[in-house]
Amino acid sequence: MYIEKLALKNYRNYEEIYVEFENKVNVILGENAQGKTNVMESIYVLAMAKSHRTSNDKDLIRWDQEYAKIEGRVQKQHSSLPLQLIISKKGKKAKCNHIEQQRLSQYVGNLNVVMFAPEDLNLVKGSPQVRRRFIDMEIGQVSPIYLHDMSQYQKILQQRNHFLKMMQIKKQTDQTMLEILTEQFIQIAVKVVMKRFEFLRLLENWAKPIHHGISRGKEVLEITYKPSVEVLEEQDLSKMIASFEEKFSKVRTREIERGTTLFGPHRDDLLFFVNGRDVQTFGSQGQQRTTALSVKLAEIELIYAEIGEYPILLLDDVLSELDDYRQSHLLNTIQGKVQTFVTTTSVDGIDHQTLKEASTFVVEAGVIRKA
Ligand SMILES: Nc1ncnc2c1ncn2[C@@H]1O[C@H](COP(=O)(O)OP(=O)(O)O)[C@@H](O)[C@H]1O
Ligand SMILES: [Mg+2]
Repeated sequence: MYIEKLALKNYRNYEEIYVEFENKVNVILGENAQGKTNVMESIYVLAMAKSHRTSNDKDLIRWDQEYAKIEGRVQKQHSSLPLQLIISKKGKKAKCNHIEQQRLSQYVGNLNVVMFAPEDLNLVKGSPQVRRRFIDMEIGQVSPIYLHDMSQYQKILQQRNHFLKMMQIKKQTDQTMLEILTEQFIQIAVKVVMKRFEFLRLLENWAKPIHHGISRGKEVLEITYKPSVEVLEEQDLSKMIASFEEKFSKVRTREIERGTTLFGPHRDDLLFFVNGRDVQTFGSQGQQRTTALSVKLAEIELIYAEIGEYPILLLDDVLSELDDYRQSHLLNTIQGKVQTFVTTTSVDGIDHQTLKEASTFVVEAGVIRKA
């Protein structure tokens, strides 16, 4: 798939712009703070109904304005799809094919994107929260059911936390109610865990040969899920439920003392190993970089395998950061099949052949024009 048209209104530093893109590499060139990342972000938000760099939607609205609007036309093999997202202070409204979508979880997935930005190095180095967010966003764009399950999970987690807090301060003593909440919590938690296991296995299958290639055959990458409740990928649903039940009965007193849910998908993590060693702790910066890049490239293939269309690749300020070998590896992988957006302050660090074949846009103070 590729994005053919993009229109922004009151989005970040853009008052009103309309751009047409080609199904190839599109280079967005501009000085710092002119709006390059904002364009990339708007495409990401059009796809995910969420920004990759803020959880506060109001940040996306141009200062002193009431709402922001992103519109795009996505071309797929057999269809052409108009998408529209309006972000106001009251919330978000999404339209697909001019029809308003009741749930954002239904809207997400119409446009698929893979973003690679400098902060993605945090995927390996950063906190577990960064990695959980990564899995949730990525599963979400290929599985609307997962997005729905996650929102149910958040709700029940909040209710359970609230109840535990009440028990902690002794405003509640109803053990039966806690049991009911725990059972509801477990039912949805195991679904989330199972889906994450499944996703990571697919991701690893794609990432392994890519990493092997980028490291010139020297490194073997492994990705594993690290659940906070001791469950195994091979376990069936009833076994997993039993493991959760056992865990939660053991920690009940502790949870009441602490007034919060201590185990479950919101406390899980994932681990990357290179040649058997944990990359987060023992990996060099180069290995961490290669891991992050392999995972991103793997996502492209995974989305293709799941959806039957290649996603759009957004490379914000990273291409010139990669050494020549990694750069050409990346560009060879996407060549001719993935619409790619590249932002940069200067074309100096970018491979000549790529530039020759790219269309270039220049961004200056919230105005974008074709070079
Ligand atoms: N909600 C907003 N309204 C207006 N301007 C904004 C908003 N959010 C960010 N900006 C401005 O956008 C600019 C940064 O754009 P960005 O796309 O991050 O730049 P870069 O070209 O370096 O990637 C800054 O000048 C910032 O002040
Ligand atoms: Mg930027």
